[in-house]
Amino acid sequence: MPSDNLDKWVEEIQKEIFEEEVKRYNKYIVELFQDPKNWGKPPEDQISAWHAYEGSCGDTMQFFLKIKENIIEKANFITDGCGATIAAGSQITMMVEGKSLEFAEKLKPIDIDNALQGLPDDHKHCAELAVTTLKRAIEKYKIQNP
Ligand code: FES
Repeated sequence: MPSDNLDKWVEEIQKEIFEEEVKRYNKYIVELFQDPKNWGKPPEDQISAWHAYEGSCGDTMQFFLKIKENIIEKANFITDGCGATIAAGSQITMMVEGKSLEFAEKLKPIDIDNALQGLPDDHKHCAELAVTTLKRAIEKYKIQNP
């Protein structure tokens, strides 16, 4: 197969996969898991608190927070979980950056689900994993910084 035909074929396959995923999730979620926000572990001196947590499905998530005077200056995450979890981690980190610990502690899985314009029923727990991991990181910070 000539290479421009191959490129076209790959492009069509990618488009089909994207459309299938949009049907299963939604465009916003698919774009977030294809291009995650705040992904990755920051340098040690940029981390005030971190926590790793395993969700009900066996996937894990880690949050890294930089906190100053009760404000989350930076929030990052990594996960070995599904695309919905990557979208949930992206969404929640965007929602808490620049906000107080109290604001972050009040977030519920439904807030993330709503911000993501609705996770499929079999992926609601992915928002729960993101919220729980974030809250555990904050709890840890508070214990270490009474
Ligand atoms: Fe396990 Fe999403 S976190 S399926």
